[in-house]
Amino acid sequence: MILILLGPPGAGKGTQAVRLAEAFGLQHLSSGDLLRAERKSGTELGRRVAGYMDAGALVPDEIIVQVVLGRILQPARPAGVLLDGFPRTQPQAEALDAALRRAGKKVDLVVSLVVPDESIVDRITGRRSCPACGAVYHVVTMPPKVEGVCDRDGAALAHRTDDTAEVVSQRLAAYHAQTRPLEEYYRARGLMTEVDGTLDVDAVFERCRDVVRARVG
Ligand code: AP5
Repeated sequence: MILILLGPPGAGKGTQAVRLAEAFGLQHLSSGDLLRAERKSGTELGRRVAGYMDAGALVPDEIIVQVVLGRILQPARPAGVLLDGFPRTQPQAEALDAALRRAGKKVDLVVSLVVPDESIVDRITGRRSCPACGAVYHVVTMPPKVEGVCDRDGAALAHRTDDTAEVVSQRLAAYHAQTRPLEEYYRARGLMTEVDGTLDVDAVFERCRDVVRARVG
């Protein structure tokens, strides 16, 4: 199965991706996490993408396609992949479709988490994430049991450098200009489903799980 999660920054893609991947045995592929790992390891690629990320701009299509596509075509889990943050532009979606077609595969479902811009800034500035397992917390609405420490593996939680109010407004602008139009792209192919991302985390998960089950069994 190839499942795509769409939605603005802070919509809850990462939060739901961890749960959905577990529920359906999928490999969770987060393009943002892959880019952050490149930055952390200090590669040439990591240095090239850092400026875009810190400014809240999208990384150029040719770079991100190169980083993500191979992993999608050869998933680490036989059940397939859950894409979180990719594709984010029409050229990325077209590159994904073409590569899947060549491999005799296709996108099965796109779930878009709908959250208005007004809710995004609070969510993002309060976010803390686990660099080891990808679990996502919020200092007010979803705190870990021990402040600053991941409940799952005890790793120190991190605050992303692009999670400031200023950068969030740039990320939202990039989302509306470049990523939102993808909803039409997938709607035209009969693949789009919307889920209300303003509900509590469990309710969003249940709705996502139900639409995935209804599509793929
Ligand atoms: P990326 O890492 O993908 O960030 P993003 O899309 O901006 O999404 P976020 O990770 O910020 O949010 P999320 O939807 O995962 O929300 P989360 O679950 O964490 O990308 C970062 C950068 O990398 C981009 O800006 C770009 O530069 C580059 N990049 C990545 N992919 C690219 C691509 N394909 N092309 C080009 N460039 C690319 O939740 C957020 C907070 O809300 C958390 O604190 C959480 O606890 C809380 N929360 C979650 N759900 C709920 C809920 N239901 N109710 C209340 N609070 C909730």
